[in-house]
Amino acid sequence: MKVLVVGGGGREHALVWKLRESPRVTQIFCAPGNAGIGRIAQRVPVSADDLPRLVAFAKNQRIDLTIVGPEAPLCAGIVDAFEKEGLLIFGPTKKAAEIEGSKVFCRQLLQRWRIPSPEFAVFDSPAEAQTYVRRKGAPIVVKADGLAAGKGSFVCLTVDDALRAIDAVMRERIFGPSGDRVVVEEFLEGREVSVMVVTDGHTVKPLPPSKDHKRLKDGDQGPNTGGMGAYCPVPFVSPDLFDHIVETIMKPTITALASEDRPYRGILYGGLILTKDGPKVLEFNCRFGDPETQAVLPLLNGDLAEICWATVHGHLHQLSFGWKKGACVCVVMASAGYPGDYEKGKVIEGLEEAEALDSVYIFQAATEYQNGLLVTSGGRVLGVTAVGKDFAEAVERAYGAVGRIRFEGAQFRRDIRPPVTN
Ligand code: GLY
Repeated sequence: MKVLVVGGGGREHALVWKLRESPRVTQIFCAPGNAGIGRIAQRVPVSADDLPRLVAFAKNQRIDLTIVGPEAPLCAGIVDAFEKEGLLIFGPTKKAAEIEGSKVFCRQLLQRWRIPSPEFAVFDSPAEAQTYVRRKGAPIVVKADGLAAGKGSFVCLTVDDALRAIDAVMRERIFGPSGDRVVVEEFLEGREVSVMVVTDGHTVKPLPPSKDHKRLKDGDQGPNTGGMGAYCPVPFVSPDLFDHIVETIMKPTITALASEDRPYRGILYGGLILTKDGPKVLEFNCRFGDPETQAVLPLLNGDLAEICWATVHGHLHQLSFGWKKGACVCVVMASAGYPGDYEKGKVIEGLEEAEALDSVYIFQAATEYQNGLLVTSGGRVLGVTAVGKDFAEAVERAYGAVGRIRFEGAQFRRDIRPPVTN
């Protein structure tokens, strides 16, 4: 089987790494990939957003299966474009991907189907949104409707912050047309958890829960980022609670989409919050989470290519796969200045020594070769990942590896692990 993976971050490195284990996979391409992916797959110099060239590549190379990492091509209709040409591709259609592509659609869908969610209101006028915020008070959440590279959600602790967020999104249009509308939501308190399921539209199979760390600094301080680390599984999600989440949130959402003529296939990612009134949906994503996927896939006891193949063929019910006991921790190493401005081209050292450690996997996110040297090429540079028989071992291994890697200004969190108390 010839497989094309679309994307070029740590998530895609983890996908390619896991696909390589499959005896059915003969060749893996990745567009555009990164330096680390280039060591284990053939890179294709085509951007993940260039749908016509991706289709042409898949046709010319007779790709058997394409797996898409990022949301932008999914929301732009890459699955529709591939299917129109008779090409097999893992992921939701444009209509189904709207669950991530439009926060308004997502909230209204969940409301129609009574899937547990925060209270919300939708506005296409900034003045009306601001009047609502003044009436509701803070804390309150403001979200741009469309895609915003993970930056479109503002948790506002004061009314002034919320008014400013509305100005930035709707008047200054910092996300362009993604800010034509906003959702203003109730602020919820509780622990957050990420739950991914794979579905062919009928069968739904959950992946174990994982936990992202969105803030830059230890103790959930500092600005929001794309994710500074993740762990899997999540000790504070009991098996009963997990079943409850799958049965009352994940499955009903897939049923709701199908009932509204948007059958869903691929990975559905729920960003959930465990409130005192039960789990509720903060957001849905139409794809594998990042960095969560880097912490989940090392625990998969199964063939990822088979899972994706069965999904696109609607045969997921015929497949069984399991999960290793133990724990996995992924610590993101980022460039100095991230998530603000940062410099690129910093030489990365110590990677080979770190990779040689027991049960350590280093997924590269923003790396390139420059004059034969591995250098940084973006904000989040590496996902330093380790598996252990328990969290103590996984954490020790992951941070042991982090300690061997050097690049100028590297920043990382030191607290990627479950809380001590449940
Ligand atoms: N970890 C959050 C996301 O994948 O969007």
